[in-house]
Amino acid sequence: MSPMILITGASRGIGLAAAKFILADGAKVIALQRTIIPALEALSTKYPGAIQIIKGDFTKPEDISSALASLAGDSLDAVVLNAAVGEPFGTIATMPLDSFRVIFDVNFFGVVQFLQLALPKLREAKGKVVFVSSTAGEIGAKGLGAYGASKAALNQLNRTLAVEEPDITSIAFHPGVVRTEMAAAIQRDGKDHMDPAVVGMLAATASETDVPGRGIRNLVLRAETEYSGKYLYFDDPLVTSL
Ligand SMILES: NC(=O)c1ccc[n+]([C@@H]2O[C@H](COP(=O)([O-])OP(=O)(O)OC[C@H]3O[C@@H](n4cnc5c(N)ncnc54)[C@H](OP(=O)(O)O)[C@@H]3O)[C@@H](O)[C@H]2O)c1
Repeated sequence: MSPMILITGASRGIGLAAAKFILADGAKVIALQRTIIPALEALSTKYPGAIQIIKGDFTKPEDISSALASLAGDSLDAVVLNAAVGEPFGTIATMPLDSFRVIFDVNFFGVVQFLQLALPKLREAKGKVVFVSSTAGEIGAKGLGAYGASKAALNQLNRTLAVEEPDITSIAFHPGVVRTEMAAAIQRDGKDHMDPAVVGMLAATASETDVPGRGIRNLVLRAETEYSGKYLYFDDPLVTSL
């Protein structure tokens, strides 16, 4: 039977690329996002019966339940916790506390809640969780403090999940700098808060979404249990050689 992979945020960017690679490999996808665009709908035509597109907010319990209900008795072999927000941007000194909360509500508490609802099905299948993380969670980057802190918290969630849920393979994945709407927002709106050299470096080094899309496909379909608890870069041979 084809593995069933649930992806949060497949309407564009890295999530859409991951969905394409996973479907091309013969697995099935449940895609949960708030907007549905033609490129996502086109996957239903290209892979009839292999993708279920759920319009919803992954931070809302009722929308998570709808996505899980669409399994209809199938196993849940992996979730890709990809959906996130990068904005608002701002420094610690100037960014309102509520803006920190906006980012943490989605990127951290949203993910925790999602896991709490999905874990029973993941345990049943001895499934996998791939957290889509960021280098912003490892380094100090001016103007990206709230986003970076949310990704550092996500990395810690990954390590904790790996020890608390031995039947689940839990991996944090750094996709690299990737040409997406989130990256465009940094160039457009983030630049006023950030170090210009960092903004320039991000623009100059961005890859296409295929690079992390392939990496996520490799991890959800082929990673062994020994990978659990690891934080892996898109270009790590542990990812690319799978
Ligand atoms: N691009 C980069 O350079 C880069 C670098 C490091 C890490 N990352 C990480 O990679 C992941 C994907 O980023 P991206 O660059 O592809 O971003 P993106 O182009 O902005 O796409 C984000 C996706 O998340 C979905 N989303 C956001 N909030 C959601 C919510 N509440 N419920 C459901 N879906 C939601 C969006 O869909 P809707 O708006 O339709 O809901 C969209 O499909 C994120 O975790 C990001 O932090 C990106």
